[in-house]
Amino acid sequence: MASNGKPAMAQETIHKEAEHLANGKVEVNNWSGPGPAAFDFRSDVVTTPTTRMLNAIASTTLLDDVFQSDPTTNDLEAFIADLTGKEAALLVLSGTMGNQVSIRTQLLAPPHSVVTDYRSHIIEWEAGGVASLCGALVKPVYPKNGRYITLEDVKKQTVISSDVHACPTKLISLENTLAGMVTPLAECQRISNWAHENDILMHLDGARLWEAVAAGAGTLKEYCDCFDSISLCFSKGLGAPIGSIIAGTRKFCERARWIRKSIGGGLRQAGVITAAARVAVEDTFLGGKLTASHDRAREIAQMWESYGGKTANPVETNMVWFDLEEAGISVKEFIEEGEKVGLRLLGGRLVVHYQIGDEAVKRLDQLMQAVLKGKKLNGTAEHPAEKLQFPTE
Ligand SMILES: Cc1ncc(COP(=O)(O)O)c(C=O)c1O
Repeated sequence: MASNGKPAMAQETIHKEAEHLANGKVEVNNWSGPGPAAFDFRSDVVTTPTTRMLNAIASTTLLDDVFQSDPTTNDLEAFIADLTGKEAALLVLSGTMGNQVSIRTQLLAPPHSVVTDYRSHIIEWEAGGVASLCGALVKPVYPKNGRYITLEDVKKQTVISSDVHACPTKLISLENTLAGMVTPLAECQRISNWAHENDILMHLDGARLWEAVAAGAGTLKEYCDCFDSISLCFSKGLGAPIGSIIAGTRKFCERARWIRKSIGGGLRQAGVITAAARVAVEDTFLGGKLTASHDRAREIAQMWESYGGKTANPVETNMVWFDLEEAGISVKEFIEEGEKVGLRLLGGRLVVHYQIGDEAVKRLDQLMQAVLKGKKLNGTAEHPAEKLQFPTE
């Protein structure tokens, strides 16, 4: 139950969603609705897989993907190659594995450097993998416009030299979206054209490229055309339980398969992952569910601003950045205040995924008024986030 006493989803919808393939027998379980994810703004990785994903897993093929004989996995790879306009695609377990396998595949031997945004996931959150797996020097780029890096920014850090003192740049890695902000297609094209003229490869951490495309910034094919390798995630805003995919030329994917195996990413019955991932792409991305979250994110930013709050970044997709310092509240206090209304927060960054509904926004409104207008919250929420279960019968 939601705190207003109404179920978070109509019972009729639950039944429809929960009609398992098994002879139409109705079962309601943890897959039947968003559950705690409906009140969780920490990230889009918290999205709850759906009954349709469970059904797809239940009816998937169960053959061996190291032998490349699983039809569901092969079909997903062909489907993504087609969607991205690339020759081939390869399943990986996570976004980190997608970036690391791609970069290791593209780079040969040191001395070599990789140029990337200083805030990028490969610098901040991948355990230094580019250094340890590739022996590469990673050079951070600072966006002059404060939002996305441009060709002019990239040129400042790129080394094109055969001087024995130099560490030549062999790869430029972009991230789109980054912090929820879009790198415009035209800028990707400028960087890509210049990189290729200078024999530098291009990689895209496209964990959330789906969001940029849903926001109308360009098509998947247009964006992917700028890059020699791309990594896309199924288990963030699209809502799959596990999995990412990389795409590029056939030759790239053949070598990437080898690299993937060397770090333990060769899977046996991979159909249990790829069946759900396919549903995630079809239902959430192609089904058009992402744009509603972008609208909701804008609505949340406007609410915050209407109470006098400031945002730290523009809302271009599904992330809202509250400036907590300006609001005079610490991250810790903000998280604690959120808990009082049954919301899960990580700090000033709120990720609005497709399972965030009206009730969560209402609670957020209460929180904003408490933080910015000094209104007291009524203590602990009736249903604290960690206790929220999706209603059964
Ligand atoms: C932009 C970006 N790239 C890559 C990743 C890594 O994904 P994973 O957590 O699946 O390894 C993340 C994770 O949140 C991300 O935000």
